[in-house]
Amino acid sequence: MVANVYQATCTAPVNIAVIKYWGKRDTRLILPTNDSLSVTLDQDHLRTVTTARCDPQFTEPARLWLNGVEEQVNAGGRLDACLKELRRLRADREAKDSSLPKMSEWGLRLCSENNFPTAAGLASSASGFAALAVTVATLYELRDKLSDSDLSMIARRGSGSACRSVFGGYVAWESGEKTDGSDSLAVSVADRQHWPDLDVLVCVVNDAKKGTSSTSGMQRTVETSPLLQHRIKHVVPKRMNEMRQAISQRDFAAFTALTTADSNDFHACCLDTAPPIFYMNDTSRAIVQLVEELNRARAQNGQDPIAAYTFDAGPNAVLYMRKGQDSATVLRVIRHYFPGAFFDDPQHVLGTDKDQLPDKEPLPNLPTSFQADVIPVHASGSVRRLIHTRVGDGPRVLEHGIGQESLLKEDGMPLRLQRAKRA
Ligand code: DP6
Repeated sequence: MVANVYQATCTAPVNIAVIKYWGKRDTRLILPTNDSLSVTLDQDHLRTVTTARCDPQFTEPARLWLNGVEEQVNAGGRLDACLKELRRLRADREAKDSSLPKMSEWGLRLCSENNFPTAAGLASSASGFAALAVTVATLYELRDKLSDSDLSMIARRGSGSACRSVFGGYVAWESGEKTDGSDSLAVSVADRQHWPDLDVLVCVVNDAKKGTSSTSGMQRTVETSPLLQHRIKHVVPKRMNEMRQAISQRDFAAFTALTTADSNDFHACCLDTAPPIFYMNDTSRAIVQLVEELNRARAQNGQDPIAAYTFDAGPNAVLYMRKGQDSATVLRVIRHYFPGAFFDDPQHVLGTDKDQLPDKEPLPNLPTSFQADVIPVHASGSVRRLIHTRVGDGPRVLEHGIGQESLLKEDGMPLRLQRAKRA
């Protein structure tokens, strides 16, 4: 540890909603039109690491590097809103205790990296803003004074879905009613151990076009979609209660029915937007057909569904399934219909050595009524990458001080810099 360096390094996970947040009632404070509920994914596979340092010598109020590329910190922007709130809380502490260093007045440097490739096409704003809030709160020694729900309100100012990445396991974002947003926060529904046999498969779908961002897409839906108003008033409140119950009872059949219904409802609202927004593509829809056929064939045998699918503001599918035999079956079926996806089998469900995986995965044993021609075998690479992961824990403090985990060098510049911004 280097003396007189004020620094912290923390990590935060990605979360995937099973009841979607789509729409804001206040765009500046990022207050949603409805409650939402998500599952936090394991940080071994998907996480953001952030180092924050403050120093009286830093001349700019804040500098930020994301995956080695410096980003503009705009006054009045989302990052600025998060930092203002953290500085205000720090200044309150300094006012009460004059022996504390005046960190709230010093410049900040922030360096953030994801352990998943940018090319994976996964949104990183949720893990990114959660890591930022947790790291700066740790640096400012605010953690003992702030609950995780308090922290979630700071992360929310960066990106709505980020508030849910402040917790592990199963997390609800309560939309709240107050105009100042002081009751719009995330709470834990259940921790990661609650349902140990739930597994997750992220199918990264190949897509050439750049989609509409969630921020602008959801406002267009709020302004133009009558279906969204119905969803907010009549669909989500009931579904939230049913989802809480499905999770509390580890009822996979109910969890699957609710998750798939909510994903389809959200994408229907996108289609009901003027002009319509299409996030799912042909490959996404083929995954839906395949999973629905697998679940239908299982139901005909009197069995529970094998997988739930959900899609965010892009074409990637996230599948929830049970660990063990079901997980292996889903992986084999997906690899059969979507060959050529990069997959390194981190949980060793298909074998111990990824080099031994066959290029052409044969179909595993499936119920006899399964219709194998439900979709064709797709062109190699239609699904680019498969990430097999599981439910994970909340943010972690890697170190408070400067040590091996630091993403900033002693001179305050990033350890890894990239020359040009990737498109
Ligand atoms: C489809 O949190 O990215 O993933 O608050 O404008 O930053 P902003 O939007 P963002 O929206 C996420 C939308 C979603 C659904 C969800 O995560 O609940």
